[in-house]
Amino acid sequence: MDKAKRAAVIAGNWKMNKTPAEAKALIEEMKPLVADAKCDVVLCVPYVDIPAATEAAAGSNIKIGAENVHFKASGAYTGEVSADMLKAVGVEYVIIGHSERRQYFGETDQTVNLRTKAALDAGLKVILCVGETLEQRELGYTEALLEYQTKIALTGVTAEQLKNVIIAYEPVWAIGTGVTATDEQADEGNGFVRNAVAAAYGADVAETVTIQYGGSMNAKNAEGLLSKVNVDGGLIGGASLKAADFSVIVKAASK
Ligand code: PGA
Repeated sequence: MDKAKRAAVIAGNWKMNKTPAEAKALIEEMKPLVADAKCDVVLCVPYVDIPAATEAAAGSNIKIGAENVHFKASGAYTGEVSADMLKAVGVEYVIIGHSERRQYFGETDQTVNLRTKAALDAGLKVILCVGETLEQRELGYTEALLEYQTKIALTGVTAEQLKNVIIAYEPVWAIGTGVTATDEQADEGNGFVRNAVAAAYGADVAETVTIQYGGSMNAKNAEGLLSKVNVDGGLIGGASLKAADFSVIVKAASK
């Protein structure tokens, strides 16, 4: 297993936080702190913050992402935003299948797959989230669940398109709870995801896919998690709202 074959990516997920003015201020604060990063740095922000965020990040190494995307190109889908619309305002990445979307907004593995294909067709890079609940873990289904979620989400995605997919293993029990997976649990979960990619695309392809860990990753635990062979980056919620904490994680991924 050769970590050098894949890009390290640290992505923030701001969730439902920050006004446009606050987004601009936070990005201005972050810019000098992450300027010498040796990993890719992405901030996924609420839709209304996108113009302010792309403007603030222009000319820096920070890339802007959205937190979701609809799978239709246009039409009667009140409240939704298409992949072409995101492209048009300078978005490069999009989170798909976050557990909060699955849990609170009824998203399924099938719609996650549709969103993934629509985003890739439009030329966006996808941060695809998978992860087991505590109940599924306790019942011993973690590996099977991760395999299932990964395979369904990627159905119909070509090996060429897969180059624009990052997968984030986010155990649901670790998201926003302050309970982090141990370094070993993160490595194991990411390994299960990589195995699923290998089963679908072959081991050589799987070795090149960036797989992040997400779930209460913070300035203190990032180094240990990122030192694991299968952990190629992080999807960061709470700690991405603080410039100092986020930059420590970026530095840990730059080693
Ligand atoms: P957290 O969120 O870092 O606040 O646990 C991670 C995520 O939801 O992507």
